[in-house]
Amino acid sequence: MYPVIEWKDGQVIMLDQRLLPVEEKYIVHHTHLDVAKSIKHMVIRGAPAIGIAAAMGIALGVAELQDNPEIKNLAVLATKFKDIVSTLTATRPTAVNLFWAAARMEKIYQLFKNDYFTLRSELIKAAVQMDQEDFAINQRIGRNGQKLLKTGDTVLTHCNAGALATAGYGTALGVVRAALEAGKKIKVIAGETRPYLQGARLTVWELQQEAIPVTLITDNMAGLVLKKDMVQAVIVGADRIAANGDTANKIGTYALAILANYHEIPFYVAAPLSTIDTGTVNGEHIPIEERDPAEVTHFRDQMTARPETKVYNPAFDVTPASLITAIITEEKILTPDFGCAIAALKGLKQK
Ligand code: MRU
Repeated sequence: MYPVIEWKDGQVIMLDQRLLPVEEKYIVHHTHLDVAKSIKHMVIRGAPAIGIAAAMGIALGVAELQDNPEIKNLAVLATKFKDIVSTLTATRPTAVNLFWAAARMEKIYQLFKNDYFTLRSELIKAAVQMDQEDFAINQRIGRNGQKLLKTGDTVLTHCNAGALATAGYGTALGVVRAALEAGKKIKVIAGETRPYLQGARLTVWELQQEAIPVTLITDNMAGLVLKKDMVQAVIVGADRIAANGDTANKIGTYALAILANYHEIPFYVAAPLSTIDTGTVNGEHIPIEERDPAEVTHFRDQMTARPETKVYNPAFDVTPASLITAIITEEKILTPDFGCAIAALKGLKQK
């Protein structure tokens, strides 16, 4: 499978997802500032993938300091490290994986800050390990989630919660992959996901790479598709799951959840534990990124509305826990009451 992100010879290499499906091009990043720019401008996107990118960016930032004569001064290192972390965490506010990854790197900094060269290699090791772990976690999410599907099912998904949004394999699309690996016949319907078209450009592309049957619809066709019984499950990813189960995901997810509930079709969220933010009590407290109006008035360089048009462009919405049938994690499938299920799961993890 195509690598989404890779640490290679002291550089961070990413597939430029902005160009898909037209062109497959890799960008080599030499500095943490380059990595931060790539996260902000969507070269890489998807909650787990941007977490890995942030971790690699932090490792890169610390590696950049190697020729700095002052680096043995702990106060200088502390200031530099803080700057690197804040540059990377200032890129996108909604996906909690970014902050989770930065916190993990900060713990390593605290352990090894007295020895710059050990710190540098431990940060690199941790970032690479995070990438490898994420792949394995997605496979476990897939193995758990595939039990919810039966042969012949068609899954409706939104945005891209696939290999391209993670270290590979995917969360929502990981469930589909695992079901196929278990010998079930599964088809996918992908919503195009206006305005950035992650569904049309990325989900369709990645499924086609493996000849997984996929049909593309525009977002406003979802109601009809559900009404006509063309879908047996809706499965989406998540950018942040609050302590009570409220889930932020790509704009349009909330509307799909309402449709699924109305038509009594199960609505599943597939996400790693790193996406669950017990520090956020409910969805109202999840910061929602607003993006450039040009994403709505233009497709690439093509104008679709006058540039001076007033635009509202939130990148995510929050689906209340009450509309979610189950949350599929690498540990287990959580069912309502999500607040209790999440507390129990996190409590067990903390022991
Ligand atoms: O703006 P994006 O493309 O980063 O948004 C991605 C999503 O909303 C995904 O569904 C989510 O991050 C889960 S990815 C496994």
